Amino acid sequence: MKASGWWPPGRDRARNVPVCGWLCTVNGTGSGAPRSGVSSSESGGAGPTPGDRPAPEPGVGSGSYSDPMSEPPAIERASDAPAVLVRSVHRTFEPDTAPVRALRGADLTVEHGEFVALTGPSGSGKSTLLQVVAGLDRPDSGSVRLAGTALDDLSDDELAVLRRRHIGFVFQFFRLLDSMTALENVALAAMIAGAGRAAAEARARELLDLLGLLDKSGSSPVTLSGGQRQRLAIARALANRPTVLLADEPTGALDSAGAAGILELFQRLNAAGQTILLVTHSEEVAAGAGRRVAMRDGRLEPVAVGAGDR
Ligand SMILES: Nc1ncnc2c1ncn2[C@@H]1O[C@H](COP(=O)(O)OP(=O)(O)O)[C@@H](O)[C@H]1O
Ligand SMILES: [Mg+2]
Repeated sequence: MKASGWWPPGRDRARNVPVCGWLCTVNGTGSGAPRSGVSSSESGGAGPTPGDRPAPEPGVGSGSYSDPMSEPPAIERASDAPAVLVRSVHRTFEPDTAPVRALRGADLTVEHGEFVALTGPSGSGKSTLLQVVAGLDRPDSGSVRLAGTALDDLSDDELAVLRRRHIGFVFQFFRLLDSMTALENVALAAMIAGAGRAAAEARARELLDLLGLLDKSGSSPVTLSGGQRQRLAIARALANRPTVLLADEPTGALDSAGAAGILELFQRLNAAGQTILLVTHSEEVAAGAGRRVAMRDGRLEPVAVGAGDR
């Protein structure tokens, strides 16, 4: 589906009514999380997920958020609960052919402030796990908690709220809206949450500046390099200061220089407090994360510490 302009279908331009339609899925703000049958790697993502927390005050971007890199994400830390807690999660897809057991008792904990790389062979369930963590797909059994809140028994609407609050999602192929400018792509994320246009654009400018894209504010994503597009997608995913930034092979479509730039960006964000869970096939990227875990046959296994030791 294509957007036909800055305003997505259904938005009242004059009144700035919250968006719905397909963008609600893209941005994790809709009432319906994709369920079964959604390709785990290609389903709509919780991209910018601006949330239900109060909209930024006017003037944001010019003052209080002037250095988002140094400001930890806005998270509710009522307890010491991990950012992400996955326990005994099973997910079986039942296409017309034989059932596919994508997740078979996956367990994963990501603490606040961690940068975790998730590796594993193709088909081992990495994307499915990310979708489940994002609340974009539901497990058949097991439990997923984001910052202490269980997703398990939530309605689709409640799940969307949690997703907006906690998740930013970055995809391998960016999923930007080419008919919008770079600034609009990021600002839309904040506006979906109900932020006023001026505050949303201020936040977008701030993020573009942070990611070295300010001079591309008025450009369409199609005019950007792959690395620049992915930085723009990351800016969008950060628009609402998610508890956790999820990224599914975010360097997979980039050349090695582009990939190195994105890895460095993730490292900077993590150093500033951003929790990150990233799927990658790249040894270099995985080695640059703070911790590595591997998936095999739908389960996680820690990479052996000191595997090279004798
Ligand atoms: N929507 C779906 N319908 C049917 N099978 C699926 C679906 N999504 C994923 N799978 C299957 O589940 C398994 C795990 O997929 P995935 O999580 O995408 O693995 P990875 O990301 O590690 O490559 C694969 O065998 C894949 O074909
Ligand atoms: Mg995948």
